[in-house]
Amino acid sequence: MPTQPPPPVPDFIYGTAWKEDRTAALTELALRMGFRGIDTANQRRHYFEEGVGHGLAAAYNAGIVTRDDLFLQTKFTYQPGQDHRLPYDPEASLSIQVAQSMVSSLEHLGTGHVDSYVLHGPSSNHDWTDADAEVWEAMRKERDAGRTRLLGVSNVSLRHLQQMAAARAELPALVQNRCYARLGWDRTVRSFCREHKIIYQGFSLLTANQEVVHHPLIASLAASSNATPAQVVFSFARSIGILPLTGTSNAEHMKQDLASCDLALPPDAIHAIESLAR
Ligand SMILES: NC(=O)c1ccc[n+]([C@@H]2O[C@H](COP(=O)([O-])OP(=O)(O)OC[C@H]3O[C@@H](n4cnc5c(N)ncnc54)[C@H](OP(=O)(O)O)[C@@H]3O)[C@@H](O)[C@H]2O)c1
Repeated sequence: MPTQPPPPVPDFIYGTAWKEDRTAALTELALRMGFRGIDTANQRRHYFEEGVGHGLAAAYNAGIVTRDDLFLQTKFTYQPGQDHRLPYDPEASLSIQVAQSMVSSLEHLGTGHVDSYVLHGPSSNHDWTDADAEVWEAMRKERDAGRTRLLGVSNVSLRHLQQMAAARAELPALVQNRCYARLGWDRTVRSFCREHKIIYQGFSLLTANQEVVHHPLIASLAASSNATPAQVVFSFARSIGILPLTGTSNAEHMKQDLASCDLALPPDAIHAIESLAR
């Protein structure tokens, strides 16, 4: 079990998807630039979790951070979301797969525990199934054994969350979803999260919302606050309760993304950005 009090959940999370052999260097760079939250997954198809571990080790060795400074988040991914590079025995039960995936994640990341363990996505787009209930129970056991502090779910709908609640399952401490402006920035899921004190993490804030990023309103808010359009979007996201992720590979963008934490938009600007999507 960790001995230190848990680090607070940081106000920006660095995402390590799709970085392949640049994963270690970019993870180290992100820490050097000031990120303290790192998101990965034990899903070799899209993430190189072992490379994240190498980046962490380099940052520890360079004296940039210690493990206790960090919020490390990884995920359990069902077999259909994986390629042939599985972190578990596909013939084993789902509960065993969760335990095996966690052992492998801890090994990759060179740590005795993660801060957040996330179900990458429910087994069905539609319902919270018996398979999800089994996986969730196995994840709870990992938490109770001290191998993660928090549990989360990703790529969930309001229906999934309502079904979890109806089944009297423990609700997640955090949700991680793709945020589309045209869907009110995932308004219904966010409002469920607010009601149940669940941290809402949003990804693809820039890539899924290019029409917003390039909108004249954003350009004018950016100009008047001496910021970039990306910073305006991240600041807006934070103002409506979204903990943003960024997957930038660019040092300057890392700096700008973190600096958006200091950008406070006036309430009328926040309403105006929200109404762009209506
Ligand atoms: N749970 C899931 O299923 C799931 C799915 C997708 C992603 N994620 C997580 O979320 C993380 C982030 O993913 P994402 O989709 O939000 O981002 P992303 O696809 O990794 O890329 C962000 C894009 O925005 C650009 N960008 C970032 N900061 C910028 C700035 N200040 N100015 C201009 N452009 C900027 C980046 O370009 P540059 O590189 O040139 O800066 C990049 O093209 C992933 O790495 C992963 O950890 C989770």
